[in-house]
Amino acid sequence: MRILNLGTHDITIELRNQGHIIVPELSESVDSVVCNIDTYKLAPDGLPMFVLLTGGNKMMIWRVQKDYPEAHCYMDTKELINELTAKVYEVDIAELPINKQDSLIVTSYANKGGVGKTTTALSIATVVAEQGAKTVIVDMDYGGANLATFYNINREFINYIADTSLLDKALFKVQGNLYLLPSPTDIVPNSIEPNNIYKILMALKAKFQVIVCDTPPSPWDKKYIHPVYANSDIVYAVVKQEKFSIAEVKTYSPQLMAMGTDRDRMRIVLNAYNPKLISLQQIEAALNANLKL
Ligand SMILES: Nc1ncnc2c1ncn2[C@@H]1O[C@H](COP(=O)(O)OP(=O)(O)OP(=O)(O)O)[C@@H](O)[C@H]1O
Ligand SMILES: [Mg+2]
Repeated sequence: MRILNLGTHDITIELRNQGHIIVPELSESVDSVVCNIDTYKLAPDGLPMFVLLTGGNKMMIWRVQKDYPEAHCYMDTKELINELTAKVYEVDIAELPINKQDSLIVTSYANKGGVGKTTTALSIATVVAEQGAKTVIVDMDYGGANLATFYNINREFINYIADTSLLDKALFKVQGNLYLLPSPTDIVPNSIEPNNIYKILMALKAKFQVIVCDTPPSPWDKKYIHPVYANSDIVYAVVKQEKFSIAEVKTYSPQLMAMGTDRDRMRIVLNAYNPKLISLQQIEAALNANLKL
């Protein structure tokens, strides 16, 4: 949750430890405001307000609640933090209406195999699901799929590629809000129609808030995977530093552009990063080297 902190700086670290983002001034995406008896009148309207009444001054509660009947008042820091944190989880995510426009597609990219695409996809999917988003991780490494093995699911997997009505049967709930769409068992990667992949993505958008796509190496050679890059909100290129080459990263942005990922959507994940080997600036410069405005 993004919290506007008005003068209660002593609890900032504890709020951060609970996974909240603390912002010092009002921005569009603030979810709640935490303030004290001196600052509550500065709180913007329309946001849930959590007021810390330190110094044992219980009498102040009536004053705050007279001005702001909806305010939540606490004498105790821990109680405030716990209740505020509980609010993040109180919505039943399964019941959330999904707005197609709000769904986010996050996709891995690398030309090399074994650099950490799947590991990073799993990390991202796990974390966003734990934060409360209804999430699916899609094994699109057709031909080299390994996500089902990660979750110890060993069986035949339905071929949903040409028929999105089979998706519900093909999905596995692996934990909490996190679902897995394994690669079909009988898949022949080069027979996949790009348009079918597009339809699958759109069908998943109607069901999930976050769609994490794990992809095969060298996606440029695999036409069927290109619609994923064209329709992703974020594409993260995974670079394993021990195999790192500036020349290789320079090819990433033109290839991603050619597949339909524009520069604003490109990111780099440095796996096994070692600051002694190369600077982040050099890597960023390499990614940008072949991008023209
Ligand atoms: N930061 C890391 N530290 C240690 N081991 C790692 C790290 N990142 C990845 N690995 C290991 O390296 C191996 C390859 O990782 P992963 O499967 O994520 O790569 P990939 O790019 O998806 O490979 P592929 O191209 O075969 O799909 C795995 O055994 C994984 O556990
Ligand atoms: Mg992989």
